[in-house]
Amino acid sequence: MLLVNIGQLLTLRSSSGKRGPRRGFELKELGIIKGGAVLCVGGKIVSVGKTKDALRDPWLKKNRKRVVEIDCEGQVVLPGFVDSHTHPVFVAPRLVDFEKRISGATYEQIAEAGGGIRSSVEGVRNASKNLLAEKVLEALHEMADQGTTTVEAKSGYGLTVESELKSLAAIQDAAARWPGTVVATLLGAHVVPKEFAGRSPKYVDLVCKEMIPQVAKRKLARFVDVFTDRGAFTREDTEKIFEAANKHGLGVRAHVCQLSETVLWPLLRFNPASFDHMDYVNEDDIPQLAKRDTVATLVPGANYFLGLEKFPPARKLIDAGVPVSLATDYNPGSSPTPSMPFVLSLACTHMKMSPAEVIAAATINGAWALRLQERKGSIEPGKDADLAVFEAGDYREIPYWFASNRCAFTVMSGTMVASTGPAELG
Ligand code: NIG
Ligand code: FE
Repeated sequence: MLLVNIGQLLTLRSSSGKRGPRRGFELKELGIIKGGAVLCVGGKIVSVGKTKDALRDPWLKKNRKRVVEIDCEGQVVLPGFVDSHTHPVFVAPRLVDFEKRISGATYEQIAEAGGGIRSSVEGVRNASKNLLAEKVLEALHEMADQGTTTVEAKSGYGLTVESELKSLAAIQDAAARWPGTVVATLLGAHVVPKEFAGRSPKYVDLVCKEMIPQVAKRKLARFVDVFTDRGAFTREDTEKIFEAANKHGLGVRAHVCQLSETVLWPLLRFNPASFDHMDYVNEDDIPQLAKRDTVATLVPGANYFLGLEKFPPARKLIDAGVPVSLATDYNPGSSPTPSMPFVLSLACTHMKMSPAEVIAAATINGAWALRLQERKGSIEPGKDADLAVFEAGDYREIPYWFASNRCAFTVMSGTMVASTGPAELG
């Protein structure tokens, strides 16, 4: 497949060649080629450059008949978004919580009154794996429609060994039917389920001694996540769970500082791929994070949907050198959106990130947050052929036209998928 006449090709190549996720000013470097072309063979990117040079290439001249040529007619092409934080395994939207919040209840008050995460549990426990897989697949298609080609997908609404394994198996089934890439995460430690009320150490034991070993044995997840916050799990619980995860060869990540401050440095010894939310990050942790490859994944869709005035402190983190990524946090309680472009727009308007910064945060730094930086997040020879084509002449239009889908099509491991949005293929 050869894409030609790309108005702006955002390669996300680093000019310094420095290793590690992008931080500080590096987050602004999009490596733009005007009049660009990309050649993909066998699901991989083979060459990247100017259209005029690509058309003169001797290999291409010889193989022209075997190559599908796509004229991008001056549109923008970027690496497919890497949505590094989603919770797609649920059955029903939480409409009562939505109304209660509009009437003034907070996320925590709703949870205490029996709503919130626990109210999605029964649906998942009663659902068949096939139904859950259908739900996940629908979400993946909606995400791809808006330019996402890699998705991290968490379990976390089953909260028994059996239903967490079922949720992860549903993710695996959906992933097998979608041309993009899915990274599964066990979030058995999302909240303490009702039947363990007052016995949270017993539930932590179940996560460590049964869920994690079984998930590792069946290769159902690559990461283990913990909701470390008031009303969920403590930092000490998280350390135990991270220890069990590392022992079984799984990577770790955590929801932190969404509702209250948690001191993070003691968790750094587990080398987490990512800390997510980070609304109430402790000042002393910031210089520690600036030295590490643990990515701060910001999910402003949750702040928007919970009607919060405060958004994650992106500027403070970026200016201090902490690597930052952006994700949807797609879930039924706090962020029911599959749209990375909408999240990018929020990050510009409410977190004062620049359009260039939000693109890098949603591509190369998302890839780092999943430890997929060797395969994803930039358009460079050898990487997976994962691209998003936007009906725009300038990349800044991606966060500018909010709540509008300008994605024309995606390419996922070399497979072209048209977006069902309003755009027409060139
Ligand atoms: O990332 N904070 C924990 N988990 C989700 C919310 C899940 C839910 O409300 O169902 C989040 O916001
Ligand atoms: Fe989340």
